[in-house]
This record gives sequence, structure tokens and C-alpha cells, in this order.
Amino acid sequence: MESLDNQVIVINGGSGRLGRSVAEQIIDYDCFLVLIGRDEVKLKEICVELKGKAKVSYFVCDLTNEKQVKKTINKINSQYKKIDILVNSVGSWFQGEIPDHSTVKVKELFDSNVLGVISFVSQALDLVRKSSKGQILNIVSTFTSEGLISWPIYLSSKAALKSFTESLKLTVKEEQIKIMAIHPDAINRYNIEHVVRIILFMLEQPNTIFISNLETKNNYFPVLRKQA
Ligand SMILES: NC(=O)c1ccc[n+]([C@@H]2O[C@H](COP(=O)([O-])OP(=O)(O)OC[C@H]3O[C@@H](n4cnc5c(N)ncnc54)[C@H](OP(=O)(O)O)[C@@H]3O)[C@@H](O)[C@H]2O)c1
Repeated sequence: MESLDNQVIVINGGSGRLGRSVAEQIIDYDCFLVLIGRDEVKLKEICVELKGKAKVSYFVCDLTNEKQVKKTINKINSQYKKIDILVNSVGSWFQGEIPDHSTVKVKELFDSNVLGVISFVSQALDLVRKSSKGQILNIVSTFTSEGLISWPIYLSSKAALKSFTESLKLTVKEEQIKIMAIHPDAINRYNIEHVVRIILFMLEQPNTIFISNLETKNNYFPVLRKQA
């Protein structure tokens, strides 16, 4: 396993359930952790919790706002000069069968889950190029190929992100940048710790190899047995 000491690690969606849990584990490394989200109160609270363990900071940024993204990346550039690891754990979702959803809601969801991530990654790519160990990990989802009756909009946004991730791999094919995607099944209190461990495992691989795509599937039986 590679150490992540001294690396600049940026987590988009660092205020979310998964992003925060990754931050709480990755902080065991002596790294520079940057959390990004829209809610300053939540970001501040996490930074206070993690302070003392590592150099943690946050930036308030709505990924759907091009100006804010540009400003945030400029700030990361002036403070850290590079990004070693970029984890995109941004996401929003709603349930509802086709066609029970308003176009406005669909646009909002695609703005965050797809356009926002594409905008951030595209603008941050040169900073990742400045690292000798650059990695970008997108949190996608399982079921993007099969679809699900009750999650059509969310899953189609994730399918778009999956496709973007594959094209990005081709873009940097000749460079030393690892582009990865994890496709988790539903994340719950029983498995979040394991999902985080898998994410760390992906990021800790040595320079010579990388886990391009990894899909997790839930096994509900142990949980059900425990509850019985
Ligand atoms: N939870 C699951 O069961 C599951 C399963 C498979 C995949 N995933 C994926 O895993 C990732 C994390 O999920 P989660 O459970 O941690 O969700 P979560 O708790 O709702 O967190 C989502 C994060 O995304 C941020 N975000 C949303 N829209 C944003 C925007 N426009 N600009 C900046 N930040 C924005 C939120 O920040 P704010 O504080 O600003 O809202 C929050 O930090 C998502 O990509 C999700 O699609 C989740």
C-alpha cells in the first residue's frame, strides 16, 4: 500500500455522508485535506472535528456555479499548487417513476451530478497534472446499465458520469494520472465503513497499478439475520 502522507486531497461533497466518512479515515495520513460543499456550517463542523489530526481546510463552492468553481480552484492553486487526489462524492437524488418529475428538478439534478462534476474536473485537471501521483476517483453508482424503475433520473445522471469518467481515462492515457470510478450499491449504516475502506484501498495502490472500476453489491442477509 502507498502512503498518502503529504498529499493534497480534495473531496467534493466532503460535507456529505460518504465524503465526511472518507475524510474521517483519510485524515490518519499526514495529508492536506480540502473539503468542498455548499453548506459552510457543516464544513466548519467537520473541520473542527478533524483539526489537530491533519491540515484540514474547506471551501464553500456550489459546483453548478462556474465562477465559484473557478475561484475555488484558484484558491487551491495558490495554497497548495497541486492536487494529488480528487474525490468527487457530490450527488443529489430523488425517487419517482417516469414521468413523475418536473423538468426543473431533472435539470437541477443533472446540473449537480453531471455538469458540476464535469466543470470541476475539467478546471482542476491541470492542478492534478502537477502531481506526480495524480488520482481522480468519481463516486458513481451501481445499476447504471440495468436501470431501476424508481430511480430513473438519478441513475441516468450517474450513467453520464460513468461515461465521462471513461472518456477522461482516454484523455490522460499517456499521463501518470489514475482515473477511477467506484459504483456502490445503496450505502447504509451497516456498510458505509466498508465502502470507505474500499475507497481507501483504491487510493492506496502503488503507482504501477490502479483499480479502474469497482462495483459493490449489498448482501442483505447478515443484516436481516442480525435483526431477527
Ligand atoms: N448514499 C447512497 O446510497 C449512494 C449509493 C451509491 C452512490 N452514491 C453516491 O455517493 C456520493 C455521496 O453520497 P452521500 O450518501 O454521501 O450523499 P449526501 O450525504 O447527500 O452528500 C452529497 C454531497 O454532495 C454535495 N453536493 C450536492 N450538490 C452539490 C453542488 N451543486 N455543489 C457542491 N456540492 C454539492 C453535498 O453538499 P451540501 O452540503 O452542499 O449539500 C454533500 O456534501 C454521491 O455521488 C452519490 O450519488 C450514494
